[in-house]
Amino acid sequence: MRSTPRSGAARSRLRRGLAAVAVAALGSTMAVVTATSAQAAVTCDVTYTTNDWTTSPGQGGFTANLTVRNTGDALSSWNLGFTFPNSGQRVSQGWSANWTQSGSNVTAASMPWNGSLASGATLSLGFNGTWSGSNPKPTSFTVNGVTCGGVNPSPSPSPSPSPSPSPSPSPSPSPSPSPSPSPSPSPSPSPSPSPSPSPSPTPSPGPRVDNPYAGATGYVNPDWSASAASEPGGSAVANTSTAIWLDRIAAISSGSAGNNSKGLRDHLDLAVQQDAANGSAPVVIQVVIYNLPNRDCSALASNGELKVAQDGINRYKTEYIDPIASIMSDTAYRNLRIVAIIEIDSLPNLVTNLNLAACQEAKNSGAYEQGVAYALSKLYAIPNVYNYVDAGHHGWLGWDSNFGPSADLFGSTADLATGGKATVHGFITNTANYSALVEPHFSVSGTVNGQQIRSSRWVDWNFYIDELSFAQAFRQRLVQEGFSSNIGMLIDTSRNGWGGPNRPTGPSTSTDLNTFVNNSKVDRRVHAGNWCNQSGAGLGERPRANPATGIDAYVWVKPPGESDGASTEIPNNEGKGFDRMCDPTYGGNDRNGNNPSGALANAPLSGHWFSAQFRQLLANAYPPIS
Ligand code: BGC
Repeated sequence: MRSTPRSGAARSRLRRGLAAVAVAALGSTMAVVTATSAQAAVTCDVTYTTNDWTTSPGQGGFTANLTVRNTGDALSSWNLGFTFPNSGQRVSQGWSANWTQSGSNVTAASMPWNGSLASGATLSLGFNGTWSGSNPKPTSFTVNGVTCGGVNPSPSPSPSPSPSPSPSPSPSPSPSPSPSPSPSPSPSPSPSPSPSPSPSPTPSPGPRVDNPYAGATGYVNPDWSASAASEPGGSAVANTSTAIWLDRIAAISSGSAGNNSKGLRDHLDLAVQQDAANGSAPVVIQVVIYNLPNRDCSALASNGELKVAQDGINRYKTEYIDPIASIMSDTAYRNLRIVAIIEIDSLPNLVTNLNLAACQEAKNSGAYEQGVAYALSKLYAIPNVYNYVDAGHHGWLGWDSNFGPSADLFGSTADLATGGKATVHGFITNTANYSALVEPHFSVSGTVNGQQIRSSRWVDWNFYIDELSFAQAFRQRLVQEGFSSNIGMLIDTSRNGWGGPNRPTGPSTSTDLNTFVNNSKVDRRVHAGNWCNQSGAGLGERPRANPATGIDAYVWVKPPGESDGASTEIPNNEGKGFDRMCDPTYGGNDRNGNNPSGALANAPLSGHWFSAQFRQLLANAYPPIS
């Protein structure tokens, strides 16, 4: 890991976001479809949301996003139909389907690469359009000719997070993820329509505290602690709590990574010992659930052992989640607060990176959504487990075109879990990433010499310039989505400190927009899409509870000093590929604006100890190590 902030697809979606900045109204309708055909039982849910804007009195444009969930049998191709209520509504350009309009009737036919829609899978598609008079939503939909049933108005309109007026550059060119050449047909993974937790006694999730970090002591992993302490000066932070990564099935058991390596039970036993030794404070232990089939689908460095095409989703459930849940539910651990960090990068990849075959396969098979929902179901059933779902970072989901659709996908995925959205205690941002917590020297709404900061190359029209503002805004959006108003956010601050000699101490005095931003920003990366072993980074805020409104804790989920990926190809049996974003000589790709990777040289495989990186992080810590 850590994967891409934005694909080329997301970049073009960005433009769509720009067209929609003068948002006049948002809203949605949802049709719940239940109908049967002779062949396959077609049932589905369709959600239709729009961003509308007015160009002159009585007319304007809009972007419509549709989510179709197949709640019936698997489909090999699909045809979605609906009728605009008004004659003045037109589709101008759509994506992820072949869009046609005849009179007021609109049809979206599947593309070769997204026709197969497993039972339980969801599909996102949309279009830009124009309206005159008004822009009411269609009230019914068909899938493969089968009429979709009654209409359930979905929760009330969700205002855009920062409806700042903006210059609105040219409206919405090509928003679509360009379809990648069709992925080779994969054997059907036969997903079940919804996660089916094994017939263990029905959960009665006990009372959980609102913030598991409040008043608690963080579990110190003795293995990471020893690595940190072995580095010069490392003992200053070696007592910090870091997360346990269950990054493959074998990591659940003892001895998997060498004779003395610890499995989940070993860590939980040690956490119980730490709990006994720390007085009355409870211990919070963080466990990363990270083994979905087609993991890290938009990158290579953290590809995993399970594949969608090789029964990955069933193996994920039975060989990975079930054993983890069984260990965590041992009553010997009942007094621990176990935080489960669920599947880094997975759902955001389904929002922005569907132009990549591995992500498309993850989406079409329903593997990510089902896997996440299954993990949520099983872990929520254990009363002292707190589920936090990974929510990317500001430099990935901060654009409107990614922000709302991600929240929608989190919502629809959690709805698949037994227990629904209540299974989610919160979300985490910036996991294993480097985004600055706060940019103190400029504001997203500022201008330089009459030009908006948002238009600078670094900000690139994002609505957020740092992680804290993003996490707080995204939390609100998730509450609008229907998650509990008590959800809390975590921010991984393990490596986003950006201190040391190169940290700007005040705003630049330059009147050139890009020079101003580049010389003022504390995040010293060349591009916010850079994610691998970043040169110049430092340790960030030390973990603590309740640091800011809506934030449950700053946490160190990525253990500092563990590599993000090898800088040259290293053969291995961990399923990990070689991602050139970890190669300092690489000139980049469309996901980092074709900039240098900014990665450190001589890096080992992801997860392996990288002494030189740890030393740099220590030297550049911000706040500095006292
Ligand atoms: C790697 C995992 C590792 C984790 C923590 C990820 O990038 O893929 O194998 O456990 O980082 O270092």
